[in-house]
Amino acid sequence: MNNENHTVAVLGAGTMGAGIATVTARAGYRTILFDIDEHNLRRGIGTVHGFFDKSVRLGKLDADDGRAAKEALSGTTELAELGPCTVLIEAVVEDLAVKTELFGRLDGIIAESALLHTNTSTLSVTGIASGSRYPERVVGTHYCNPAPLMKLVELADGRHTAGWAHRSTAEFLASLAKTAVVTEDRPGFIVNRFLIPWENSCIRALESGLGSKEAIDAAVPGALGQPMGPFRLLDIVGMDIHQQVATRLYEQLRDPRFFPPPMVDRMVSAGDLGRKTGRGFYEYDDTRLFGS
Ligand SMILES: NC(=O)c1ccc[n+]([C@@H]2O[C@H](COP(=O)([O-])OP(=O)(O)OC[C@H]3O[C@@H](n4cnc5c(N)ncnc54)[C@H](O)[C@@H]3O)[C@@H](O)[C@H]2O)c1
Repeated sequence: MNNENHTVAVLGAGTMGAGIATVTARAGYRTILFDIDEHNLRRGIGTVHGFFDKSVRLGKLDADDGRAAKEALSGTTELAELGPCTVLIEAVVEDLAVKTELFGRLDGIIAESALLHTNTSTLSVTGIASGSRYPERVVGTHYCNPAPLMKLVELADGRHTAGWAHRSTAEFLASLAKTAVVTEDRPGFIVNRFLIPWENSCIRALESGLGSKEAIDAAVPGALGQPMGPFRLLDIVGMDIHQQVATRLYEQLRDPRFFPPPMVDRMVSAGDLGRKTGRGFYEYDDTRLFGS
């Protein structure tokens, strides 16, 4: 794929949308971030800019490349502005009705050959594609969080995904320097079948007093080679998202390891969702979604 000839839309400017937009803008794609909420859109763009600024400060990114990546990104709350986009990546709230309605609204807007990607964690790609007049173009691409740092993306076809759409999607992911792993359109794909029970067991260990959050966060990556501890990761994921994903997987798989421990409900009720609210397991000075 020639990155300069494509405009990518990322729909939803939350944790994942901002992360994915960081990746596409950095790869040289003109990127339009879309959200229905002006505040969330501005926060998403601020997060992407903050990530590039910090990368330049740390010497991980050349200043010109940082400027170019920031210039590649724009934002809108108008769906009609996504008309020129050739790849549209949906990362809005994990709600089937919202996602199908959004795909239906895109029918009259998108170009004939545009690819429609969904970043759903627990919903069926086929179910989401049923909202579109073009289910053959809908592909599941499940990015790992934080998207700018994690290479892995799960690639899942829906029942009606066309072979060309799958191949073009694999090519697109390669152009982002992502490693694609093909999985079936099943609840949780591969990664969340392992990640969610693991996160829940770390929370249960904390609840039972096995160690402090700092101790568990230090021990687990050290011993298991993980890039970060479970509570730092959960603060980036968002406790509301963890609760939703864990509950949905429990409902579908009926395996108690997926059931969210009581601490999750208490933190969500208290609004301690993680980085996005400034407090989760840890406290944060700013509510950028990732990156500092
Ligand atoms: N958080 C994670 O670790 C993670 C990882 C992989 C996949 N996912 C999936 O990615 C998707 C987004 O998750 P998130 O964590 O970024 O959520 P989030 O709550 O941080 O952001 C969701 C965004 O969607 C926006 N939105 C809601 N309805 C919309 C609509 N109709 N059109 C446009 N924007 C709309 C909201 O305003 C919000 O900004 C979900 O499907 C989730 O399951 C999340």
